Amino acid sequence: MKKVGIIGVGEYLPKKVLTNADLERMVDTSDEWITSRTGIKERRIAAKNEAASDLGLKAARQALHESGIKPHDLDLIIVATITPDMQFPSVASMLQQGLSAKKDTICFDISAACAGFVYAIATAQQFIARGNVKYALVVGVEILSSLTDWKDRNTCVLFGDGAGAAVLAEVNSGGILSTYLGCDGAKSDLLYVPAGGSRMPATKETVNKHLHYIKMQGNELFKIAILSMTEAAQVALKRAGLECADVDLVIPHQANVRIINAVAKKLGLGEDKIYLNIEKYGNMSSASTATALCQAVKEGRIKKGDIVLLDAFGAGLVWGACVIKW
Ligand code: ACO
Repeated sequence: MKKVGIIGVGEYLPKKVLTNADLERMVDTSDEWITSRTGIKERRIAAKNEAASDLGLKAARQALHESGIKPHDLDLIIVATITPDMQFPSVASMLQQGLSAKKDTICFDISAACAGFVYAIATAQQFIARGNVKYALVVGVEILSSLTDWKDRNTCVLFGDGAGAAVLAEVNSGGILSTYLGCDGAKSDLLYVPAGGSRMPATKETVNKHLHYIKMQGNELFKIAILSMTEAAQVALKRAGLECADVDLVIPHQANVRIINAVAKKLGLGEDKIYLNIEKYGNMSSASTATALCQAVKEGRIKKGDIVLLDAFGAGLVWGACVIKW
């Protein structure tokens, strides 16, 4: 099996900023509540003419540039998203076209909500490790504003839009040391969008009843998220033959700063070992870990030889962790 690593990262955040003060004018909430309960101060919202593939394409171009790889070198494009441009075709196929990648590039999307980027990294790793693929592009992109009920204060303060990308290839040393993915479908009703799929196709009634928006039992998820992310990190580290003390930086899913702090405490990791971008971007599902990884690299928080832990949890319920030697 070949060693597989990340050789370039990229990101794109839409220009429009929606602050907590803006939300105070939209629903019965306050900056104080949102900040103290979630850690979020503002989030980005895609423009009306921006779809997932538009954001993903910009992040992908940056990751390709950073890695020195040309689009026609790509053999595989995986997009992790729960907010594709449309039901089909895949966003990955749209990126292939947008990048002018070659015709035999394998293209597909992965639906694993907030753990989607970790699921996609783990999947791309398999292709490259077995020698079937040389270069893979993995993108985590969401336009969660398109699934957000802007009248529901329980959810509308949480989410944002964005995209992050990574190029994966064979590396001589280090790279992805381990992955751990899991799912508990029995708890899928804690976080879902009821309508718009084959179970409940769109009708005037589903639209009037706001059934195309995210429904979430936040406080139930809160407890499960802490346990799942802690366990995922521990299993992935064990598979890599490492301990928590070996970790230089954790890139956690950014759903709630209180969840992240609780996970860090359980793992015995100090604040300096946790990368946060939730304050500026909120929860961008699969794009949260993807953009956080990119920003940590750009800011010099990740250096060659560092042990980086990706750790995510989301609707499904799914979780995933990945240990990388940079
Ligand atoms: N402003 C003011 N008050 C609010 C707001 C708001 N925006 N939202 C809820 N409240 C109120 C509630 O109505 C409730 O009032 P009540 O006590 O009078 O009934 C009170 O605040 C407490 O509500 P809780 O839901 O218990 O608040 P909690 O402290 O649990 O925070 C939150 C809610 C932020 C949603 C938290 O539970 C959370 O982060 N959950 C995890 C989310 C998560 O991990 N999701 C998975 C990933 S997302 C994905 O996969 C797409």
